Amino acid sequence: MTETQRLIVADPAAVATAAAERFLAAAEEAVQRRGRFIVSLAGGATPRALYTRLAAAAHRDAVPWRKTIVFFGDERAVPPDHPESNYGMARQTLLEHVPIPPEQVHRILGEAADPEHAAASYEAVLRETFPGEPAPRFDLVLLGIGADGHTASLFPGHSALEEEKRWVVVASAPKPGPPRITLTLPALRAGRRILFLVTGEEKSAVFARAFGGVPHETPYPCELVIPTDGVREVIADRAAASAIL
Ligand code: 6PG
Repeated sequence: MTETQRLIVADPAAVATAAAERFLAAAEEAVQRRGRFIVSLAGGATPRALYTRLAAAAHRDAVPWRKTIVFFGDERAVPPDHPESNYGMARQTLLEHVPIPPEQVHRILGEAADPEHAAASYEAVLRETFPGEPAPRFDLVLLGIGADGHTASLFPGHSALEEEKRWVVVASAPKPGPPRITLTLPALRAGRRILFLVTGEEKSAVFARAFGGVPHETPYPCELVIPTDGVREVIADRAAASAIL
């Protein structure tokens, strides 16, 4: 089992505060060392508070946005203005409030008639950004988890978990809804820093098993995001960690 740094804080606001600190530190370090900061954003509800925090004055003025390149871990096959669009959520809470050049925001084309096309074109942009690399070496990969242990759009038992070569594939969620386009395990694992944010009591059982050492049989998709050459951290609130406190 890979070692995971674990931080448990009081509530979702404290998760956002700690995550914003990590985001700024990762950005500063990446720009200092490599001249740019490449981040993969998470979708879902949990990171909204982080994105809002990053858009507020302190971080808006401190993060090197002009040297930041944004990708997304996954997307639903919906247009960017759809309420379920991860890009739409990140744009409203964060991206339209900070001085990031629009050409440095690479969204997944959820509106494409064929999600396979959206996956292929997104992978092409990633490969241009990381030329010649075996996998996308994001400086920071932000992720959430579902109560079923999914992360990005990698769901338990889905064949997308088996993908070894492609960086982006089409996946489906167990519940009805639009198809999803997601980074694969090899792509997520390549991150220099992988940061999971987990809040809420409904995640307490999966958190205890995936990140709290509670035994279980089949590893959850989130557990399988083991950095190839990076560090993994999970920041949870007390409600999410309640089963191990
Ligand atoms: C998404 C995701 C997904 C999410 C989890 C947790 O687009 O929904 O990237 O993996 O992180 O489902 O979602 P919540 O934060 O809404 O609980």
